[in-house]
Amino acid sequence: MSTDVVLPSERDASGRSFGPEERTLLLEVLESGVLFGPNGTKVRAFEAEIAALLGTRFARAVSSGSAAVHTALAALDIGPGEEIITTPITDMGGISPILYQGAIPVFADVDPETLNITAETVAQKISNRTRAVIVTHLFGNPCDMDPIMKLATERDIVLLEDAAQAYLAEYRGRYIGTFGRIAAFSLQQTKQITCGEGGFVATDSDRLARRARVWADKGWNYESEAPDHEFLGLNYRMSELQGAVALAQVRKLTAMVEHRVRVAEILRQRLDGVAGVRPVPVLDHAVATYWRFPLLVDSEIVPGGPAALAGELKSLGVWSTPNYIRYPAFMCRQFRERVTFGQSDYPYSLHGDYPQERLDDFPGCKTGLASVLVLPWTERHNETHAAFIAERVTEAIDRLVQDSSRPPGRSG
Ligand SMILES: Cc1ncc(COP(=O)(O)O)c(C=O)c1O
Repeated sequence: MSTDVVLPSERDASGRSFGPEERTLLLEVLESGVLFGPNGTKVRAFEAEIAALLGTRFARAVSSGSAAVHTALAALDIGPGEEIITTPITDMGGISPILYQGAIPVFADVDPETLNITAETVAQKISNRTRAVIVTHLFGNPCDMDPIMKLATERDIVLLEDAAQAYLAEYRGRYIGTFGRIAAFSLQQTKQITCGEGGFVATDSDRLARRARVWADKGWNYESEAPDHEFLGLNYRMSELQGAVALAQVRKLTAMVEHRVRVAEILRQRLDGVAGVRPVPVLDHAVATYWRFPLLVDSEIVPGGPAALAGELKSLGVWSTPNYIRYPAFMCRQFRERVTFGQSDYPYSLHGDYPQERLDDFPGCKTGLASVLVLPWTERHNETHAAFIAERVTEAIDRLVQDSSRPPGRSG
């Protein structure tokens, strides 16, 4: 194996796919002089094409994935004091909007292997204040939707999908993002497609699509003959510059995702039989689309676990993130100290006895985070990269095992 393989990075051109398609559309926008989304054509075309691809009736573009989650909650008219069940293992942009709606995030534990919430963990957190559950498909790996949907129907809970990491992932042949009443996606730099910053919501509901559009435009309905600020809303609009890049990207999405999945399968095969690591499992009837490539590290076999493996891999030219996030959301200061609006303690103050969650009460989070190691993954990774990564992982584990079996005090 050559030592000079440089892996693609999602942070720059090596791992991203911007070409003449993006340039042409961007130039069209500049030459038109219309950079404002509601007056232009690119954002609207992006919405139409991504909705057609996903198979939803509507998509509504916004300025980020966080804005998409917020817009989805606002479209559902989530209000103060309502409880929203969600995962503590996600980007904060998937959680903070709950608090901005005055609602209360209630954390469900995750499966220790996929780090996804399950029907069982959600069921444990349902109360008479539960209004919705946010189903986040972590790393682009689908949650088990059948039991989650059954539970939501039985308990009359709204399903909102956070598909920010899960473009074109599938569950029983249907795209992720089409199971809930509404879904949120992100177009931030690292996602399967990107325009730097951006996002959108997807829904089949006329009412939710309309509310999303108006809410993300300061409550102002441009499409009405007698527009007014109908309700409280923010400016989460997407600009035509973002829309142009997003439109070019959506046209490449299917091919890029197919490539991601194909090369990820090669890496899975190459890692098969490597003692001490195993790719995060994917449900039989699901297709994961690998926002990143997560591995489970067995600390009994790999001395030092994910952190030691990440350190060793770095010295061998493979960058990775041990544990994905340092700790579950409820352990962040924002939650521990309830730092929200001034000194108000709002919206926790609406709750009465909001729990101070402890990691020990989340065994799935504890085990999952302690064993996961996340490798960057892009549409530019190829078979050579997959082979290189597998070889380096094997070498790194061998080194760690050898180091740990050396008598103390001796080195080299
Ligand atoms: C699952 C999830 N939800 C929400 C977000 C927020 O998206 P953005 O960073 O575009 O605001 C992200 C972004 O990383 C995410 O991964």
